[in-house]
Amino acid sequence: MIPLRPIRSLILGVGACAPDTVVTNDNLAEKVETSDLWIRERTGIRERRMASPGESTADLALKSARFALQDANIEPSGLDGIIVATATPDMTFPSTACLVQAGLGIPGTFAFDVNAVCSGFMYALKVADSMVRSGQCETLLVIGAEVMSRFIDWTDRSTCILFGDGAGAVVLGRSDHEGEAGVGTIKLHADGRFWDLIHVPGGGSRQPVIAGKPAGNECTIRMKGAETFKMAVRTLEESVREVLKEEGIGVSEVDWVVPHQANIRILEALSDRLEIPLERFVVNIDRYGNTSAASIPMALDEAVRDKRIRPGHRLLLTAFGSGVTWGSGIVTWKGHPGGSVGR
Ligand code: UT7
Repeated sequence: MIPLRPIRSLILGVGACAPDTVVTNDNLAEKVETSDLWIRERTGIRERRMASPGESTADLALKSARFALQDANIEPSGLDGIIVATATPDMTFPSTACLVQAGLGIPGTFAFDVNAVCSGFMYALKVADSMVRSGQCETLLVIGAEVMSRFIDWTDRSTCILFGDGAGAVVLGRSDHEGEAGVGTIKLHADGRFWDLIHVPGGGSRQPVIAGKPAGNECTIRMKGAETFKMAVRTLEESVREVLKEEGIGVSEVDWVVPHQANIRILEALSDRLEIPLERFVVNIDRYGNTSAASIPMALDEAVRDKRIRPGHRLLLTAFGSGVTWGSGIVTWKGHPGGSVGR
């Protein structure tokens, strides 16, 4: 008798997009007292992308979704649902996922947003994976999309240099014939006691934007940078060790770390602590800055596209962000080692 294998989910396709407008460090040095050198040395960022006026999170999400569907060779009508991870939705409500669904022209599929800020993609992936594993659905779109630039105080040099806009998406399907490939352990956590480390105070029910009154800077990001930095390094290390233990593997069995891109110094510290060389980290913070929930799928897309990530490779995804929230997960890339998945 052939033993039954538990259902797993598998990333069938990936896509990403970034707005056309590039904002360099020198551009920012014209607005606030900073320099290209300081930003590069302290963060690793050289430039970031900025949405054009009128370009919204749903627009970027939709573009990345279309690329991911194309990559998976799946029509929008083949989707059971859409989950968008974002902290910068088009509107307070409805969800950005509903706008993406309308854009794809697939009324009836479920659609909702997840907000775990920079850890949002890990949270959305876990929810989607659980839905596939439980047999409730077969094919889902999981998107991380942000227009952070609308929530920046352009006079605050500690935050305006960090963030950027973009989107990344994966199509998640049921894995039946892929051997060990697919989404493995994902562990999520949060500690709401530290909600004020990074937050946007206004625009919600505590401090609503009053009609007719300009939003002012209460609708912009406040961040305790140094505290966040320290907590991020410590927490990411613990989170990665937890997921490796649960999966029963060591660091040498990880081919690529695909991390949230918050600061190159955070990634360097993580690399040191875990003893995984930085060369095995997918890093694109130099060109996109911190794109919050979009950063992991954007990095994933880039490394799949340039063929660093190959069939059978084991990926470690990890993120830390506002909430505070964090999470790590293991994904084994589709196809068989030595085989081809054609891209
Ligand atoms: O994605 C979610 C998680 N987010 C993060 O993980 C962000 C984590 N934090 C960071 O990346 C870093 O803390 C920052 C990049 C935000 C700041 O770097 P830092 O090395 O921690 O600097 P700091 O906040 O300790 O400030 C050191 C100095 C200060 O000047 P004084 O007080 O020593 O005179 C700041 O005013 O650096 C100054 N500074 C700057 N100088 C030039 C802060 N920002 C800038 C700037 N240009 N852009």
